[in-house]
Amino acid sequence: MNVITAVSSKGGVTKTTLVSNLSALLADSGYRVLAIDADNTQPALSSHYPIVEQAPHGLIKLIKDRCLGPEVISKTSIDGLDIVVSDDRSDTLSEYILHEADGRYRIRQALTTIREEDRYDFVMIDTRGAKGAVLDAAMLATDIFLAPVSPDIMSAKEFYRGTVERYREIKESAKFLNILLGPLHVLFSRVDRTVDAKDVADSFRAMTEGQPDIRLLETQVPTSTVYKAAASAQMPVHLYEPTSNTKRASARDTMMSVLEELFAIHNEYDNLFQVPEISPRDGDAK
Ligand SMILES: Nc1ncnc2c1ncn2[C@@H]1O[C@H](COP(=O)(O)OP(=O)(O)OP(=O)(O)O)[C@@H](O)[C@H]1O
Ligand SMILES: [Mg+2]
Repeated sequence: MNVITAVSSKGGVTKTTLVSNLSALLADSGYRVLAIDADNTQPALSSHYPIVEQAPHGLIKLIKDRCLGPEVISKTSIDGLDIVVSDDRSDTLSEYILHEADGRYRIRQALTTIREEDRYDFVMIDTRGAKGAVLDAAMLATDIFLAPVSPDIMSAKEFYRGTVERYREIKESAKFLNILLGPLHVLFSRVDRTVDAKDVADSFRAMTEGQPDIRLLETQVPTSTVYKAAASAQMPVHLYEPTSNTKRASARDTMMSVLEELFAIHNEYDNLFQVPEISPRDGDAK
């Protein structure tokens, strides 16, 4: 089981869009996927897809009782995609986590049970676009970090000061418990034709040269209205735009490319995370 978490200390960078679409694509490819909405105060992921079986509890019980039983796992309309919704709009969890000695490790501990029982192939966590204890707890449960960044140099610098610094602090603290966190994968997202994303990518690579824990993905997610339109229709974007009539890659191909690249990188790490291969056209198999 691999845990993929979208992180960014900045808001509005397409984290929820990526988590909802990548988790649905994995589920449609035949994997068993659990999404966790750890953006407790703005739980957009929780309502991204229709819920067909609503569990009585959600993120609060997951963290307080280290529980990942049926009482916290709801079923979405997408076959193979379950979700732990956030039920903590008033943000009681940040305080709670800070006051419990093992608070930041609670999500990780809860995931241990489903890992041992082999209930899911992937867990995808959406997080808040701001620093905080719930984000720390999600980071400490993560195998594969995905960090969407706007393709401009100011955003890249801000990302470096905010997200990268926090990630490294968390990674250092985890070492004392023999927890090795994987690298941070940066994905330029909402790339439009007016920016020279290649220049920004070059600057970013220069800025992070010699730092193997930060890797910029080759794949970029272009600006496209289909992401919002698919979200409004409560549909995964790979079904909303499976093919493209223009030169631009379809949203389905873009999402597939993100997953393939993430997995290819992870297979380089001596199968540390044992990521299964995903075949490009599995999506319609079900
Ligand atoms: N590739 C894209 N092109 C254009 N718009 C996009 C794209 N991806 C997402 N969006 C839109 O951008 C907005 C912000 O995306 P999203 O909510 O996923 O960001 P977020 O990082 O989760 O934000 P927050 O930090 O507030 O949780 C949404 O309206 C979404 O529909
Ligand atoms: Mg979000």
